[in-house]
Parts: sequence; C-alpha cells; structure tokens
Amino acid sequence: MNDTVQRVAFVTGAGSGIARATAQAFAEAGYAVALVDRDREAGARAESELSELGSCRFFAADVTDDASVKDAVTRTLSAFGRLDAAFNAAGIDGEHGNRTADCTLENWHRVISVDLTGTFHCMRHQIPAMLASGGGAIVNCASVAGLVGAATFAAYVAAKHGVVGLTRTAALEYAREGITVNAICPGTINTQMNRNLPADLLQGLLAASPMGRLGEPSEIAATVLFLCSDGAKFLNGQALAVDGGWTTQ
Ligand SMILES: NC(=O)c1ccc[n+]([C@@H]2O[C@H](COP(=O)([O-])OP(=O)(O)OC[C@H]3O[C@@H](n4cnc5c(N)ncnc54)[C@H](O)[C@@H]3O)[C@@H](O)[C@H]2O)c1
Repeated sequence: MNDTVQRVAFVTGAGSGIARATAQAFAEAGYAVALVDRDREAGARAESELSELGSCRFFAADVTDDASVKDAVTRTLSAFGRLDAAFNAAGIDGEHGNRTADCTLENWHRVISVDLTGTFHCMRHQIPAMLASGGGAIVNCASVAGLVGAATFAAYVAAKHGVVGLTRTAALEYAREGITVNAICPGTINTQMNRNLPADLLQGLLAASPMGRLGEPSEIAATVLFLCSDGAKFLNGQALAVDGGWTTQ
C-alpha cells in the first residue's frame, strides 16, 4: 500500500469497552475508523468523542443481522474508499450460573447468534472489501473462554471456541491474498461486561489472576493495533491470549 493512503479500520462493538478503546487506538494511529454498534446512543457518543482525533464515522448495525452488517461495510467503503483492518468485538456473555443441561435455549441461541454468527457475518463482508483494497488484517475478539472451558458458560465458551475455529479457517483460505486473520483472547478486562458479574465470581477471577488485577481495554487495543500493523504480516491464524498469564497456569 502507498504510504500516503490513509488506512481504514472497521470496529464492531465500538460504543463501549474493549472495542471503544481499540477504535481510539486506531484513530490515534492515523486510521480512518468506522465505528459499528447496535447501540445508537453509545455509537454516536463515540463518534463525537473520537472525531477529535481524526476521521471517525458511526454506522449503526446489529451483527446478528447480515444485511445490516453488509450495509455498514458498504457505507464504510463509500465514506473512506477502502478497508485495511477489522476488529470484530461486538459481543455478549449471556446468562451464567446454569450448568450445560440447564442452559436455556433462548440464551444458547442469543449468544451464538451475536458472538459466533455475528463474527461470521462481519468476515463475509469484510473479506471482499479487503481483497479489493489489496489485503488487510482481521482480528476477531474471542476470549480465554475460546481456549479453555468455563463452568456455567456453555453458550459463551462454545461461541468463542467457534470464533477461534472460524479464524483459523479463514487465515488459511486468504493467506496468499494478503489478508491475515487472527483471534485475540482477552482474560478478564475492566469493562461493563464484568461490572454485571456477581461479586463473588469477580473476586474468584481476580484471585486466579497471576497479576492480581483486571486487564485494561487499552491493553487489548495495543495488541490489536500490533496484529494489524506491518510488523505482524507473518503472524496468521493465531489465537493470542492477552490475559496476564492466566491460561499458562
Ligand atoms: N470484558 C472481558 O473481560 C472480556 C474478556 C474476553 C473477551 N471479551 C470480549 O470482548 C468483546 C467486547 O467486550 P466488552 O467487555 O468490551 O463488552 P461491552 O459490553 O463493554 O461492549 C460490547 C459492545 O458490543 C455491542 N454489541 C452487543 N451486541 C451487539 C450486536 N448484536 N450488534 C452490534 N453491537 C453489539 C454493545 O452495544 C457494546 O457497545 C466481546 O466480544 C467479549 O466477549 C471480553
């Protein structure tokens, strides 16, 4: 890519938490950023705040709706002309507390639909846009729950393992066309998602953390930026734990 061409990033879940911090990091690094979220209020707020750093546009989309994702990618190309990087982080953790036999069908379908099918919807529209741009980097937000089991989180664990499998498959398929596809697997991060957890569960997660603390969204953002950089061009198909060492125990 010509160094004078501005790179373009597409970030889902950009209204909050990890993806909001990553959108900010992309803007600070000089990318034009498409901010995508189903929450219109949070998306508009992110657009207004991040526009101080550079070209940022909010496109409302629900990742469970393939047509709305397609529309967001089309609007990104209309606004910015190309697509170089994507961070697919829109996600929910769903219900917890029930073992697998008691996981409700409603919870199962909702979590799989957002976390796994939503990631697939994003990739199927981002990949043609990246091929037309001469290549790119996709980072899917899995979780440490995409690497190991977690009791009472059947749907979330299945969805995130699915994201890792989808990542590895697409990484093999597009490697010769200049697209890398990796998954990032955060440990417990200081976002709204964990503020809703029962206090005893959160205390248990902290006690099991080698560093004795939560990760910060900016620490995930920094790794995503690296995975999308020229320095990571030979890094492909990996599921990278950013968890303070939790999964090495
Ligand atoms: N927080 C953690 O500890 C942690 C750990 C591992 C992985 N993750 C993953 O990181 C990602 C971001 O999590 P977070 O902690 O920042 O959560 P968050 O709740 O702060 O942000 C999630 C964002 O996704 C958006 N979203 C949810 N469903 C959507 C949909 N159907 N379509 C479009 N947007 C949708 C929400 O509106 C919200 O803005 C998720 O995929 C999550 O599974 C989080």
